[in-house]
Amino acid sequence: MPHRLSRRPSDIAPPDRERSLLAHRSIVASPVVRTSDRAGALSQIHVMADRPHRLHRLRSMLEPRFAVTAGLLGNEIVRAGPDEAVVVDVDLRSTQNILAVRASLGDPDGGGKRIFLIDDTSHLSRSQAYALGASRVLYGPVDQAALLKVLYGTIPVGPSPASEIASTALDVANALGRMFVEATHGAILDIKDVQEAGSRMAEAISEHGLAEWMDAVRRHHEGTFQHLLLVAGVVVDFGVSLGVRRRTDLERLYTSALLHDIGKAVLPVTVLDKPGPLDTSERGLVQTHSIVGCDLLRDNAQISDEVFDAIRHHHEFLDGSGYPDGISGGSISDLVRVLTMSDIFSALIEHRGYKNSLSREAAYDVLCGMRGKLEHPLLVAFRQVALHR
Ligand SMILES: [Fe+2]
Ligand SMILES: [Fe+2]
Repeated sequence: MPHRLSRRPSDIAPPDRERSLLAHRSIVASPVVRTSDRAGALSQIHVMADRPHRLHRLRSMLEPRFAVTAGLLGNEIVRAGPDEAVVVDVDLRSTQNILAVRASLGDPDGGGKRIFLIDDTSHLSRSQAYALGASRVLYGPVDQAALLKVLYGTIPVGPSPASEIASTALDVANALGRMFVEATHGAILDIKDVQEAGSRMAEAISEHGLAEWMDAVRRHHEGTFQHLLLVAGVVVDFGVSLGVRRRTDLERLYTSALLHDIGKAVLPVTVLDKPGPLDTSERGLVQTHSIVGCDLLRDNAQISDEVFDAIRHHHEFLDGSGYPDGISGGSISDLVRVLTMSDIFSALIEHRGYKNSLSREAAYDVLCGMRGKLEHPLLVAFRQVALHR
């Protein structure tokens, strides 16, 4: 376990004393970006890495613009201050590293911006970053321009509706990250955090609107997390537009949406995020996720039968052409119908590196073209949500 020490320049662990002194001077002498310059209250950044070359790279990217302190995992670890931005470039496949980062960062909800740079594309590393309280995850190799863009662009200047809703989205992502890590380790999943974050999400959307939620989610989140946050937002707003008001009914909606793809937590991300079409065996593997999701949640007394049903059947269609059971018509619950429509719409408008996302109008047109698969009156009601909310 790393020590928790006050911040010291020697923590950068340079190879010799002379370089240590130089490093010290560069920390002290770094030009500082003031509040009025660009990034709001941000003037100091703490960087953390598990390899000296990663640490030096981070410092060289940031020191011209920020006062930088640094900590190398495995040496004397600097505990990040509560109000700092922290950039973490650490291999999160190592349990030792995870423990060291956690010790250094403290409480995942402890405040401050936490930007994680991830080299590998495994689900576990992504989930782990969010479980450690990531504000933003960047996938490597990350250059200076990309890192500065995130630092300048995502650190809000004081409270505003946009930053409040972005911070709620982050809370949901962090709770999902913790749950995905538990799923990967085969633990019984505790969905309380996810439900509480979902409840705050529903409030934020009712206050600021779906469009603002979708904007924040697509700007700050990627992959499966972006998808889950979008589906949850769309489902909640769709439910409200249909007249759902009771707290328990809303909870059923966002719980189903946030959990519906939990089975993907244990599928290879190389398949889930494969650029281009999947082959037959890959498609078969992905299609196991609805049953796998139910298996992961089987022993969980917090999950209602309706939510189980929604997780298992969210890829079923009215004409019986869906999976995994090929059920049709009246066997498909109202909750599933709402979730399926929201799921497909969200998948079409997602921002992904390897595919163009559709506009909301084009995505709604795709739904309208799925004749016989989706409930027509529901599709008509969804138009307002899809295009205008
Ligand atoms: Fe799914
Ligand atoms: Fe989905």
